[in-house]
Amino acid sequence: MTKTLLITGAGGVGKTTIAAAVGVTAAREGLRTLVVTVDPARRLASALGIAHLGDEPTPHTDEPLLWAAMLDAAASWRAVAMRHADPDVAARLADNEFFQAASEHFPASQSYAAADQAATFVQARAWDLVVVDTPPSGGGIDFFAAPAQMADLVGGRLLRWITGGPLPGRKLLYNRAARPMLRVADSILGSNLLERVAEFLVDLRTTYDGVARRGREIEKVMRESSIVVITTADPAPVREAVKFYRELPGLASTPEAVIFNRSLPDAWASPTVPPKTSAELRSIVELWGSETLRQRDTREEFSARYGATVATVPLSDEPLTDLDGLALLMSQGSGIPWERIGVG
Ligand SMILES: Nc1ncnc2c1ncn2[C@@H]1O[C@H](COP(=O)(O)OP(=O)(O)OP(=O)(O)O)[C@@H](O)[C@H]1O
Ligand SMILES: [Mg+2]
Repeated sequence: MTKTLLITGAGGVGKTTIAAAVGVTAAREGLRTLVVTVDPARRLASALGIAHLGDEPTPHTDEPLLWAAMLDAAASWRAVAMRHADPDVAARLADNEFFQAASEHFPASQSYAAADQAATFVQARAWDLVVVDTPPSGGGIDFFAAPAQMADLVGGRLLRWITGGPLPGRKLLYNRAARPMLRVADSILGSNLLERVAEFLVDLRTTYDGVARRGREIEKVMRESSIVVITTADPAPVREAVKFYRELPGLASTPEAVIFNRSLPDAWASPTVPPKTSAELRSIVELWGSETLRQRDTREEFSARYGATVATVPLSDEPLTDLDGLALLMSQGSGIPWERIGVG
């Protein structure tokens, strides 16, 4: 049975790094592991053995049991259309300027495409563990809401109204075009434009059944996944982490843990400074000491308020760009509930 671990959290907190690090750790524990990553730094991508966007899962040449794939978060609607529309409709959609504009401006579509792709890997049952790095667009919670949002958008009331009840609805749509507002728009913009909008909406609507059905499958995969929230002790990412504890129930399971990344070592909270240390150095050490204490307080408060399992991964002074470095980083972490997240 394939276990799935979703790595989520605010932008820039270390999701991609920790997804890769957990993946290496799991592979070295003997699990056939796939890391599904989004937009990794180039050196991290090459450490994982992936070179191209949209890659199929690729086995690592030096690390038996480790596979990696890179999600093309920008492929978004195009991928969705290819999957859920007839080939000629998909081609027409991809060619439609409104489709292109919508795909660029509707953030849930990126999350949906990523979630859809990740769910496909999970359903392939080819790995013991699939670690999914979630895309940063619009805050990670998007990823979990995307299937429902997408179905809502494609089959939503507005669209139903415009395209008319049952498909094809084209005729009804053109009747609507007789409404004064649309007539004005038509004369200003040219009738071809309205026709292109109509075509886009009607074509999009034909994908509804597929998108809705697939959305339910993706949600099932999400509900059966373990979730880990990554944050740092800074206020903005902590606020984002709180959202996952407040809003995830209903969308997916409660997170197994919140990992405070880039944590300073506890020992720094009460440093021993040799007597002859200069005042300048002493004040720097004290500054780091108070930052360490602040971080500890933040973690304790989070744990008390949300009943969360709190773990840490230390701040590394090495660039995190090779597998050994990533494995070492994870081994220096504390409080990570390895068993509950499907490793060991
Ligand atoms: N524990 C750590 N110690 C030091 N540097 C770290 C640590 N974790 C991550 N970093 C560095 O922080 C930067 C951001 O990390 P990463 O790309 O993993 O974040 P992300 O959450 O995936 O970002 P995004 O939301 O943009 O996808 C990278 O340069 C990474 O090497
Ligand atoms: Mg990332």
